[in-house]
Amino acid sequence: MARIVVVGSINMDLVVETERFPAPGETLLGQRFSTFPGGKGANQAVAAARLGAPVRMIGRVGADKFGDALLATLQNDGVDTRWVQQDAQAASGVALITVSADGQNTIVVAAGANGRLSAQDVTAAEAAFIDAGAVVLQLEIPLPAVEAAARLGRKHGAAVVLNPAPAQPLSDELLALADYLVPNQTELELLSGQPDLERGMRALMERGVRNLVVTLGERGARWVSPAGTLDAPAFAVRAVDTVAAGDAFVGAFSAALAEGRPVQEALLRGNAAGALAVTRAGAQPSLPTRAELEAFLRERGFGS
Ligand code: RIB
Repeated sequence: MARIVVVGSINMDLVVETERFPAPGETLLGQRFSTFPGGKGANQAVAAARLGAPVRMIGRVGADKFGDALLATLQNDGVDTRWVQQDAQAASGVALITVSADGQNTIVVAAGANGRLSAQDVTAAEAAFIDAGAVVLQLEIPLPAVEAAARLGRKHGAAVVLNPAPAQPLSDELLALADYLVPNQTELELLSGQPDLERGMRALMERGVRNLVVTLGERGARWVSPAGTLDAPAFAVRAVDTVAAGDAFVGAFSAALAEGRPVQEALLRGNAAGALAVTRAGAQPSLPTRAELEAFLRERGFGS
């Protein structure tokens, strides 16, 4: 399998389970509190690594206890952290998360060290990109770092997968650097300025997106390319915690591409990984191994 380079955020998730979300100004008594390794970049790196991909991560954590723990968990999953710096000037990123009884969540991220990853840091890590099959990016680090990584990905012939989360307006230039743009429906709306799904997809394709893969939660995923549209159905499961479901999708989708699988199969594997992730609590603890993914696919009639 070709190597995957993930350039992105690494957070400690501080999670409280609650019956419902508080209203502004309201204090609620919640239930269990847990800390889980998270961050969209690190989650996607671990998702791909658990499926057997050789993964390199480029990012920043603080020179603090969370930073040490986050590095250790990435390493335990076999992610190469040579290019993850420990920054003495900033705390590790944290995400304050509430998970409601029906498995939905709210997330507020304090970027900390993630916010200090520069384009120069990425350029200095060019050696990491040389034999990459896929470069995987999100938006929890500064945009110049994302752009530098996308450029290096293209320079070295890797498939550039951009998950525009959390959503923010993006230049046509960055959209053109991505081989696959993978937003969820909310992100698509924000990026395209169109509340309607069809119109939003059309607007992004008109801006030069090559392959648009929209994750639609319980409705699966839709792939739009100049050749046409393909819907990949979701797998029905009982949702316990939806945190990192999108990351599971992106990691599994990218790992499948790096294995040389066609996009149709990458969508199926992404949907399966996302479905498995929502059945378990936490970000990285919820991400399936290759054996779990294969067993799930066989159970659902997609044996290989
Ligand atoms: O996508 C889920 C992730 O978003 C969490 O792990 C949290 O850290 C935030 O980055």
